[in-house]
Amino acid sequence: MPSVYIKTYGCQMNERDSEAVAAQLVARGYTLAKSEAAADVVLLNTCSVRDFAEQKAINKMQNIVGTARSEKRDQIVGFMGCMAQSRGRELIDQLPDVDLVLGTQKFHRAGEYLDALLSGTRHQIVDVEAEAKSEAAIREHLLNGKAKSSVSAYVSIMQGCNQHCTFCIVPATRGEERSRSIPDLVAECRELAASGVKEVTLLGQIVTSYGKREQREAWQSRPPQSAADASGDEGEAVADQTPVAGRMSPFVQLLDAVHAIEGLERIRFTSPHPKGYGDDLVEAFARLPKLCESAHLPLQSGSDRILKLMHRGYTGEKFLSIAQKLRRARPGIGLTTDIIVGFPGETEEDFEQTLALCREVEFDNAYIFKYSPRRDTPAAAMADQVPLAAREERNQRLLDLVNGIAARKYEAFVGRRVQILVEGPSRKNGARFTGRTRCNKIVLFEGDERHRGQLMEVKIERTGSFTLYGDPAIHL
Ligand code: 5AD
Repeated sequence: MPSVYIKTYGCQMNERDSEAVAAQLVARGYTLAKSEAAADVVLLNTCSVRDFAEQKAINKMQNIVGTARSEKRDQIVGFMGCMAQSRGRELIDQLPDVDLVLGTQKFHRAGEYLDALLSGTRHQIVDVEAEAKSEAAIREHLLNGKAKSSVSAYVSIMQGCNQHCTFCIVPATRGEERSRSIPDLVAECRELAASGVKEVTLLGQIVTSYGKREQREAWQSRPPQSAADASGDEGEAVADQTPVAGRMSPFVQLLDAVHAIEGLERIRFTSPHPKGYGDDLVEAFARLPKLCESAHLPLQSGSDRILKLMHRGYTGEKFLSIAQKLRRARPGIGLTTDIIVGFPGETEEDFEQTLALCREVEFDNAYIFKYSPRRDTPAAAMADQVPLAAREERNQRLLDLVNGIAARKYEAFVGRRVQILVEGPSRKNGARFTGRTRCNKIVLFEGDERHRGQLMEVKIERTGSFTLYGDPAIHL
C-alpha cells in the first residue's frame, strides 16, 4: 500500500486538518511514512497568515521535488490547506512538478484524488472550490498513530471567519463561518472519551462565533410570532454582545453539552475573539469545572486608533475589562495573547500603548508577529507601511517586556503543587514525560508509561523557558 508523509505549517486548525487527512488515508489502506524521503506521497499542509510561512512551504516543496528528481524517485507531492486555497493553480505554474493542490473545503477528497494520481488515471489535480457541509468532514481522528496517544484531542467545531480584520487573509483561505451541529460534536467527543481521551480542545478560527450564523438563519426563516420578532429585536440578541439573561450563546450551549460527557475531564478552546467573552462565557468559567482556567485573548494592539484601523471591534479599555472579568471568575486563569507590531500607520506612541497594556494585563505568554502585508487585504493597501527595521525593533522590545513578565509568572509556580494531565514522553528527552497544568503550562517530570493519561499532582521544583519542572514523588 502507498505510504504518505504529511508536514504541517501553522496553527492548531491545520494540525487538526492534517490529522483528519491522515486518518482518512489510513482508513483507505495507506501507511504513514516516518520521513518525506521514505514516502510515496508527500503533502504539505500550508499556512498563509504571514508571508514567511508561505515561503517556508514553497522552499520545502522545491527541496522535496529536487531531491526526488535527483534520486530518481517517483513521488506524488501536493499542497493542501490555506496557501493551496489562496493561490490555487498559480502554485502549479510556479512548481510544475506539483501533482495536487487541495483547498480548505476539500480535505475529505484527499483519498480519492491521491488514488487517481497514484494509479495514473489523473495527472494533476487542483480543487479549491467551495463545498457545502465540508466543515462537518473534519471528523476522523488518528488516536493510535499519534506520538501523544489518545490523551488529548482537537475537535474542529467550525470553519471560516466573518470578522474581516484588515490585516488578515483568513476569510479568503477559510471562507465564511460555518458551524457543525451540537449533536454531531457531542457524538464526536463521546467517541473520543470512550477511546480514552481525557481532554478536548474545541477549535475554530473564531470559536466564540460558533453557531451564530446558523442561529440567525433559523430566526430569519421562522415566521414572526410577536411584535418584537417582527421588528427584528430577537435577531439583535445574537450579535456580538452580552446575551440577555437566560439566553446563552450557541458556543456556551456547546460547552455545556460537552461538559456533560462522562469521562472527559478537561475542556479548552481556541481561538476566541475578545469581544466573544460575553457574560455567559465568563460565567461559564466560574460554573463549569472541566473548563480549564486558561484563555487566549488576541489583543493585536494596545492602541485604540490602530485597533479601529484593524477592525477589531474593541478598545484597549474594553480588553482590559474582559481580562479582569475572567480573572475574577477564575483566579489564577492563564492568559495568553497574539500581538502584531508595525501595523500600517503604527507610531511610536501607538506602540507604547501596546507596551503599557501588556504591562497592565501581565500575560502568561504572548505570540508576537511583525506585520506582514497579505494579498487582497485592506491593510496591505494602506499608506504608511512601517519599515522592516522599525517592525523588528518593536518586535524585540515587546518580546523583552512580555518574556520578562512571563518568566516572573512561571517563577511564581515554584514550590506549588499543580494538577497535570500527562500526555506522553517528551519529544526532546524520552526519559522525561510531559503534561499540562489546567492553566496550560507545560510540565516536564521523570515519569514513565504508567503515567500516560493520568491526572496527577506534581510539585514544581524549577522553571525553564516556558516550561515547569515537576516532582511527582509527593508524600501527602
Ligand atoms: N501579519 C502579521 N501577523 C498576522 N496575524 C494575522 N495576520 C497577520 C499579518 N498579516 C497574526 C495575528 C493572529 C495570529 C494567528 O497571526 O496576531 O492572531
